[in-house]
Amino acid sequence: MQVEGRYGECMSQNIPPGPRGYPLVGVLPALRADPVRTFLDAADRYGDVVHMKAGPYHGFLVSDPADIRHVLQDNARNYHKSPLYDRLRDSLGNGLLTSEDAFWLRQRRLAQPAFHRQRLVTMADAMIDCTEQMLERWDRVAASGEPIDLVEEMMALTQAIIVRTMFSTDLGATAEIVNRTWPIINRRIGETFWATKLETTLPLPANTRFRRAIDELETVVYRIIADRRRDKRDEPDLLSMFLSARDEETGASMTDRQLRNEVMTMLLAGHETTSLALSWTYLLLSQHPAVEREIADEVDRVIGEGRPTFAHLDRLTRTRQAIDESLRIYPPAWGFSRRAIDDDELGGYPVPKGWLVFVIPFVVHRRSKLWPDPDRFDPDRFTPEREAARPRFAYIPFGGGPRGCIGNQFAMVEAMLIVAAIAQRYHVALLPDQDVRPEPLITLRPKPGIRARIERRAPGRGGGALNAMAAPWPPAGH
Ligand code: HEM
Repeated sequence: MQVEGRYGECMSQNIPPGPRGYPLVGVLPALRADPVRTFLDAADRYGDVVHMKAGPYHGFLVSDPADIRHVLQDNARNYHKSPLYDRLRDSLGNGLLTSEDAFWLRQRRLAQPAFHRQRLVTMADAMIDCTEQMLERWDRVAASGEPIDLVEEMMALTQAIIVRTMFSTDLGATAEIVNRTWPIINRRIGETFWATKLETTLPLPANTRFRRAIDELETVVYRIIADRRRDKRDEPDLLSMFLSARDEETGASMTDRQLRNEVMTMLLAGHETTSLALSWTYLLLSQHPAVEREIADEVDRVIGEGRPTFAHLDRLTRTRQAIDESLRIYPPAWGFSRRAIDDDELGGYPVPKGWLVFVIPFVVHRRSKLWPDPDRFDPDRFTPEREAARPRFAYIPFGGGPRGCIGNQFAMVEAMLIVAAIAQRYHVALLPDQDVRPEPLITLRPKPGIRARIERRAPGRGGGALNAMAAPWPPAGH
């Protein structure tokens, strides 16, 4: 039985409350216009389990850690990636991020050794090499006083790192292709998450640009694979693991198409998110100079003027806490979703087979019952005591369960080393009066970018000249 609730919402004994939206399309127009705000408002108003109808889909928005744990971990077998990942499949193909079941498991097992602790120690060294190359350039930038686009800088750096660590090469001149094509792909996927198949296949200029960008990006990926096949180097990296993998039953190696999908997935999933995490961290530090000073002091104390290494990381507590808190406030992977492949139950409500479940870190990380005063930047939330007191699935910047991020530790090592290496020499001074907003595409990007000056820092003197920026979040009403 369906009844109308206080806010005109849909109420039924078997369906959780939720916004009614419009006939037929439900909340689709709102999700297309402002997905983050729509999910946030829905959780604020209706609570832990919210019913949402969006176009042809019915879905549950869940934001209680126990329900999230159920979907991502305890009953993960019952949840496949939702049809909203089809847009991602158009570009990444059937790779680690988008594949399912036995095929996914085989690929995940193949890739896992590339992320083992021992490999991370070696890769940390490559991360610092790449960072030092950037810092040498920053020496000149600092002297010139010219502002930089911080997001572009972080993107170029994490890109160099992923290519070097996973594929033991560099992009050289083809970096330009990645930098030009990926934003086109990212934007189009973000725009078309909720589009019909027809809207994405019509020969519209935006679709043609999208296809062309994928074709161009693919040439970079095929070149990486062809170069390695030609020079037959035996590097202990991810590419070697994929190239030498043989099917247990047939003895067949991975097809070129499959290799392309996995390399493309790792190239993109492995750099964009971390670069955004770093960009948001600097934005937050510019608003919280005391924390920036604590990080600078910690780096002086733990590393001094020497080269940062993996061994220092355990003692960079404040640096880690600040990055953790930045990932809470601005989770680069701001939302993901699943489709129930069989009937299930969530929060006491039946989940019919085929319905979607939305897990939105941006929302979960702002639930005030889990995070008191959630809009406040407070790295102390990540002291060991407070972490231990929170349910594990209250903090999900890397997802969780079997489909959790394979690069979780890699990303944290990378982000901490980069922040530490920068803090040894520089203060990143954001230009005043920038209106930076989170833009939810596939990832959460700072729009229109972040402009900053690089200022040399005298060791032992904390941050440089500080100019706090206006907070881009919370928006009105929060
Ligand atoms: C701050 C940085 C990062 C964030 C916030 C992040 C976030 C995530 C999240 C939330 C998922 C799960 C998506 C879902 O459940 O649908 C995921 C999966 C994945 N991530 Fe990351 N990630 C980051 C860095 C990396 C890095 C550095 C790599 C590779 C070196 C990577 C590779 C992947 C892959 C391959 C998957 C799919 C795993 C699977 O399904 O087996 N990520 N990431």
